[in-house]
Amino acid sequence: MPPGIELRGLDLRYAGAEIFSGLTLILPPAEFSVLLGPSGAGKTSLLRIIAGLEPPDAGTVTATDNAPLAGRVSYMAQQDLLLPWASALKNVCLGARLRGEPQNFARAQELLEQVGLPHRASARPAELSGGERQRVALARTLYEDRPVVLMDEPFSSLDAITRVRMQDLAAKFLAGRTVLLITHDPFEACRLGHSFTILSGSPARLAVPTRLPGIPPRAPDEDGILHLQGELLRQLAQS
Ligand SMILES: Nc1ncnc2c1ncn2[C@@H]1O[C@H](COP(=O)(O)OP(=O)(O)OP(=O)(O)O)[C@@H](O)[C@H]1O
Ligand SMILES: [Mg+2]
Repeated sequence: MPPGIELRGLDLRYAGAEIFSGLTLILPPAEFSVLLGPSGAGKTSLLRIIAGLEPPDAGTVTATDNAPLAGRVSYMAQQDLLLPWASALKNVCLGARLRGEPQNFARAQELLEQVGLPHRASARPAELSGGERQRVALARTLYEDRPVVLMDEPFSSLDAITRVRMQDLAAKFLAGRTVLLITHDPFEACRLGHSFTILSGSPARLAVPTRLPGIPPRAPDEDGILHLQGELLRQLAQS
């Protein structure tokens, strides 16, 4: 069982401006938690703190099993962060290479197939479209095979059909892991989430999470998904 994640009393300031203050949230183990909120609210900053890439000004991030989080988290950034001089295949294995571990190119190729890019393995990032680059970054995140996965708008550059396919792939691959997914898309939140929460205000605060019924991924035409989106849009409008 992967750990849950507890955020307690997180404060963040940039150059004196208070971005968020007193954030407290529990990400339940083995669930998809979805984070939404207006542009600039601090979602990416929060994810970077959880990933250990940035220290908060106050507060703690801990795993519910009390073991260190380091080495157990994979992070898919809002920008794809692909190395420009490495092929798509080598970018998928980049984490292993940076850690000095053997690179499993067969597994990386299999993941490129899963994201629909088997024929682009040798392409450099500059030769790929924005949506293709995003799918290479997704393959890299899945390659890492970590119990905790943080994803920042992972499907934002994809067309509608590819987006639904990649949502299904992520749901299948990451089932049973502790996932925090940032999105601006209420449909995506309602397809993939066990729960959602909204970060908003200045300084930003987190709303009490809303549980979503049933088990993700929900089919795009599932009964009730429109109703869930309506509820989410209402909360976003009021936040
Ligand atoms: N390194 C930084 N230095 C100073 N200010 C920053 C820095 N990073 C982010 N900010 C500011 O902090 C606020 C939150 O930024 P953040 O990227 O976390 O927002 P976000 O909720 O992810 O937005 P979006 O939905 O547009 O991605 C913004 O006002 C941004 O301008
Ligand atoms: Mg962001």
